[in-house]
Amino acid sequence: MNLKNCINIEDLREAAKSRAHKMVFDYIDGGADDEKTLLKNKSAFDNYELFYKVLSGVDSPDTSTTLLGEKIDVPFILSPSAGNRLFHTVGEVGPAIAAEKVGTIYSLATLSSVSIEEIGALTKTPKWFQLYIWKDRGLVREMLERAKAAGFTALFLTVDLPIAGNRERDPRNGFTIPPKIGPKQIWEGIKAPRWVKDYLLSPQITYANLNNATSAISLNNFIKDQMDASFNWADVEWLLGEWNGPSILKGVVRADDALQAEKVGFNAISISNHGGRQLDTSPAPIACLPAIRNIVSDKTELIVDGGIRRGTDVLKALAMGANAVSFARPYLYGLAAGGKEGAIHAVELIRDSIVRDMILLGAQSVNDIDESFVKTISKV
Ligand code: LAC
Repeated sequence: MNLKNCINIEDLREAAKSRAHKMVFDYIDGGADDEKTLLKNKSAFDNYELFYKVLSGVDSPDTSTTLLGEKIDVPFILSPSAGNRLFHTVGEVGPAIAAEKVGTIYSLATLSSVSIEEIGALTKTPKWFQLYIWKDRGLVREMLERAKAAGFTALFLTVDLPIAGNRERDPRNGFTIPPKIGPKQIWEGIKAPRWVKDYLLSPQITYANLNNATSAISLNNFIKDQMDASFNWADVEWLLGEWNGPSILKGVVRADDALQAEKVGFNAISISNHGGRQLDTSPAPIACLPAIRNIVSDKTELIVDGGIRRGTDVLKALAMGANAVSFARPYLYGLAAGGKEGAIHAVELIRDSIVRDMILLGAQSVNDIDESFVKTISKV
């Protein structure tokens, strides 16, 4: 499907499915175990309704807000996601430019396929660096220094992935990073000629922030070998001292963890279950938001992700007390469907739907979107 004909994120998903190799589409699209949380992240938004105001006279709403003191033009940021060159040769350059295009924050993954330095120099809008904790603490320190030197303004520490979740689509597809091409991958490749051509003509995909290329292994084994599942609250103090700057804890669903995050000094909390890719049957972030908003102070900013596809999802999260939302799959579908233009199209679709829905809601600014606009549907 032509990008222009993609009028919503689901259309971009279909376009990504038809262009990308099955193993990489499934890596973007899939979740853990029975994918119950993956589905619930989206369907949980159906538990809430938007109560719009009439005759509010809003004709050009202001979608801007601030996060960690930085002004952003839209109430969303781009979540980190690994290995973007798997999806399109342009890799992380696509979503980083898309973020700049709509005036928001881009977050670069530890396991990106374009380097910290290249992305740091690419755009002027603020950027955050997502971190996983390497067993090799020297490497942690080195990456923090590189991120700081490259102009990344905040540390986005992800803690819902001590090991990788059980994503069953990946072993079924024989998916590794970099991809290993055997008979199965060739067979599936026949159905994705444009992806195969790009893949064959571009340099090997690597974890660009590591000095040496790794051999083709599954993400699960890579994470098990390299990342430190024993990292805990006591170690966080050391880490925040090393970074010595604004920080966000990503992957929280419990109110007691949110409170602890605030106590140890995180400035913001990302309520997230890693897009349903980690512990299946964990709750949808939007459902966790009220309890967390209640327990932390107003100063602690909250970012909600999981299942965001439309402006109405964003408005519900804001009305329930989120400072902003974040997402990865929407821009990854765009990237896989059409490279940089596809990623831009995805974020513009969401931005435009926020503008439209704020007019329909009767909210002039992000600050105006209070709890009066949302109600929980009583369960039948
Ligand atoms: C994933 C990790 C690597 O979800 O963030 O695939």
